[in-house]
Amino acid sequence: MSRRGVTPRSTQVAIIGAGPAGLLLSSLLAREGIDSVVVEKESREHVQGRIRAGLLEWTTVELLREAGISERAMREGLIHDGFDVAFAGGHHRVDLKALTGKTMLVYGQNELQKDLAEARCEPGAVLWQVRDVTLHDWENGTPRVSYTHAGSRHELRCDFLAGCDGYHGVSRAGVPRQRITQYERVYPFGWLGLLADVPPLHEELVYANHERGFALCSMRSRDRSRYYVQCSLEDKVEEWPDARFWDELRLRLPERYGARLVTGRSLEKSIVPLRSLVTEPMRFGRLFLVGDAAHIVPPTGAKGLNLAAADVRVLSRGLIEFYRSRSATLLEEYSTRALSRVWKATRFSWWFTLLMHRISADPFARRMQSAELEYLARSAAACRSLAENYVGLSFEEL
Ligand code: FAD
Ligand code: DHB
Repeated sequence: MSRRGVTPRSTQVAIIGAGPAGLLLSSLLAREGIDSVVVEKESREHVQGRIRAGLLEWTTVELLREAGISERAMREGLIHDGFDVAFAGGHHRVDLKALTGKTMLVYGQNELQKDLAEARCEPGAVLWQVRDVTLHDWENGTPRVSYTHAGSRHELRCDFLAGCDGYHGVSRAGVPRQRITQYERVYPFGWLGLLADVPPLHEELVYANHERGFALCSMRSRDRSRYYVQCSLEDKVEEWPDARFWDELRLRLPERYGARLVTGRSLEKSIVPLRSLVTEPMRFGRLFLVGDAAHIVPPTGAKGLNLAAADVRVLSRGLIEFYRSRSATLLEEYSTRALSRVWKATRFSWWFTLLMHRISADPFARRMQSAELEYLARSAAACRSLAENYVGLSFEEL
């Protein structure tokens, strides 16, 4: 115990947040013998219970493999070669495999969180339920994190700080406003998601554009479905009993799919607002912003989790190079390299969101959407562009 009643400790990399970004970074560093400590404000059970993303790009799967955590995802995840875009009562299949040679993996973020936490379960690697996290001296000198854990105040000294604490975290919030530029777009609607133990209505995902609003039919397994409907930002979950959700979903799907919909009791229901946010730069001295702490995309393109993993790949390589050779070149390039992918995914998620949702009652806007959807169904080039963006760029292509 030091004189101020603070217990000091040190590590090489202090990681704020045990979401997918924080835990994956910690695993990749551990494989190279680099010490890290993750501080997380929630309990392990809470983090593992959050129902969020469900679709992994192949570059993400490869990164999990590199970290030694892909085994269950490969065994239990579902490989998807394509998906459907439904509109005007019909549907068009986007054949990802034929158009890009790549596929996607359906694997729930909460399952991934379990695998990631299991890989970092040694005592002291992840501190759960930490309070009042504060970052110090990341600009000059020795960075530190102070926090309260199990009732007492602690201090963690480190070489680098990785802010993996999501949109509401302290890492981005602690950077002085004049040092940071934020580009933001808030969309005037949300998604209401429902999880249920019913078989998915189709073997692939269905994204539906409908006069009544967007709908998405996704899944977690062959007997667990994840469905979403576009809703108003004013809506409350309590206003959406299961029966109302199922009725609304059915109305927004082509008859062929609606007729096959199997309904059941919801296991979880939640509303998420949709926004785009990009923070520039993503590095401030020895502090690196990673994943949702630096950028948010609307979920339509399924990019949020995949972008977080891509940031982790860039940062982990920079840190590994630093500890191997004392060269900071890759670390200095972190922000530029990460942002190059972030802006591409931001453009795609914004475009796909505007294409698929009911944005306004304006008849011209509605006709433009229909014309663009028809163009997509007719033009191989337009369809290939959608497929290429959906599966994401490999690191060699970036
Ligand atoms: P997070 O997963 O947010 O992890 C950040 C962690 O930091 C959390 O565990 C948090 O508790 C912790 N933390 C926060 N503040 C502090 C603090 N002060 N001190 C310590 N720890 C802190 N993406 C998709 O692709 N498809 C989807 O359908 C989809 N649905 C989503 C639904 C919701 C409700 C949300 C919030 C996101 C959704 N996303 C979706 C986005 C995707 O889940 C995220 O992009 C992904 O979780 C990013 O991972 P991350 O590790 O960067 O951040
Ligand atoms: C899921 C979420 C998405 O945002 C998406 O585009 C595809 C799938 C899902 O939760 O399964």
